[in-house]
Amino acid sequence: MKKIILTGDRPTGKLHVGHYVGSLKRRVELQNSGEYDDIYIMIADAQALTDNADNPEKVRKNISEVALDYLSCGLDPEKSNLFVQSYVSELTELTFYYSNLVTVSRLKRNPTVKSEIQMRGFNASIPVGFFTYPISQAADITAFKATTVPVGEDQLPMLEQAREIVRSFNTTYDEVLVEPKALLPENEICRLPGTDGKAKMSKSLGNCIYLSDEPEDIRKKIMSMYTDPDHIRIEDPGKLEGNTVFTYLDAFCKDELFAEYLPDYSCLQELKDHYTRGGLGDVKVKKFLYSVIMEELSPIQARRKELEKDIPAVMEILHKGSIKAKEVAAGTLSEVKHAMKIDYFD
Ligand code: TRP
Repeated sequence: MKKIILTGDRPTGKLHVGHYVGSLKRRVELQNSGEYDDIYIMIADAQALTDNADNPEKVRKNISEVALDYLSCGLDPEKSNLFVQSYVSELTELTFYYSNLVTVSRLKRNPTVKSEIQMRGFNASIPVGFFTYPISQAADITAFKATTVPVGEDQLPMLEQAREIVRSFNTTYDEVLVEPKALLPENEICRLPGTDGKAKMSKSLGNCIYLSDEPEDIRKKIMSMYTDPDHIRIEDPGKLEGNTVFTYLDAFCKDELFAEYLPDYSCLQELKDHYTRGGLGDVKVKKFLYSVIMEELSPIQARRKELEKDIPAVMEILHKGSIKAKEVAAGTLSEVKHAMKIDYFD
């Protein structure tokens, strides 16, 4: 069986270092591993509209932003098919048919939907499109017969529901769909906290470092990062748990970087030991973190600056990818319709 990846992001903002550490970096590794026959990376604009119906401009604007982030991080259109969800109208058709196989109570039980409904304060006024997005996500995955879906932990309930839909379809009609597996991040630090120490980075909290932030803004954000509130004087012993600066170092630091940027230490453990012992100030650690992060982001930002010069070329990459994705999805849709006995005129 072919090994096929599908994954994606909602275009509701530029991507930040949390996306990079949690998913983008991994996607590029998977792409370059050569282990996959096909890779589809989708900009989920239709899904973004399920809770942004009144804000189409935001979604539209972020299509090229997300594409720029993808390309500058190393996703290569020769190896990964980048496409826009709404262009592939077959996905909507599949969603409609799959929705016959899912009950309202099952959707209500989906923990991701539950917590997102709470987060968005929908209460009783949940848009139907939003409520049913797990079904649309099953369509996204199955249209490409994806075997592997690299996602964060929060998306596991979506995958579980997609697998149920596949099993239900295949037993009710015919063995057409492929059961996908989630591929979780390997590293433990798959979720970076916000710069304020809050668990999640979010635009509304203003606690994100974006991949496309100017270096000066990144420096400011790092210099005001949340650390250990009890580490007041340099001599005080400091705590590592919940200390955002060290969480970021765990995600970004490579021991080789000490020689260049902080030669008093040879590895991260040494730096941590000194911090917990006392005698190491936050400013010094933060300056080091800035160097470490910029080491990783500088080449990405340089590529982004180049790509930004020709947005029509970026849109053309998405257009080509979307045409190809549409062909593949149309193939699956016709198999689905055949299995459902609604292929009257073929
Ligand atoms: N729900 C994902 C997110 O919020 C985006 C997405 C849409 C997706 N369809 C998908 C991810 C299918 C994986 C597979 O970022």
